Amino acid sequence: MKVLVTGPCGFIGSTLVPALLDRGDEVVALDNLMYGGPPPLIDIAWNPRFTFVKGDVRVAQDVKQALMTGRFEAVVLRAAIVGPPACHANPELATSVNVNGTTFVARAVATPLIPPATSRGGK
Ligand SMILES: NC(=O)c1ccc[n+]([C@@H]2O[C@H](COP(=O)([O-])OP(=O)(O)OC[C@H]3O[C@@H](n4cnc5c(N)ncnc54)[C@H](O)[C@@H]3O)[C@@H](O)[C@H]2O)c1
Repeated sequence: MKVLVTGPCGFIGSTLVPALLDRGDEVVALDNLMYGGPPPLIDIAWNPRFTFVKGDVRVAQDVKQALMTGRFEAVVLRAAIVGPPACHANPELATSVNVNGTTFVARAVATPLIPPATSRGGK
């Protein structure tokens, strides 16, 4: 199964992604690495069924780059500002990522990015 995971470098995602690869899935991971440090998924970067896209779920170009890798059979949306302290510290960021970013990716996945070509060259 081909799976898109947002927030793959977080607490949940960094456990989920290796488990998906272990069972044979192909994983495309989109994370903006907002907490810095060495990427937690560095140990699986070699895996030919793993693609990492450094980007933001709120940025159309970043989401498009992830979606251009092909058609997904499952999407796991884990990119988020997590927990009351972090959300209260920056409510605008929390709303922007948790609501707008999540909605944006969900809608983008459901929308074909490339219009089908027609016999008239796509006109
Ligand atoms: N941690 C838990 O025990 C737990 C339990 C149940 C549900 N959840 C839910 O799972 C989700 C993830 O939780 P977590 O604990 O893994 O969080 P986390 O903070 O550990 O990870 C969040 C990840 O999202 C990424 N991210 C943040 N903003 C982003 C953006 N704009 N674009 C791309 N990536 C971005 C971060 O870089 C990070 O890797 C949340 O919705 C949380 O509520 C967590």
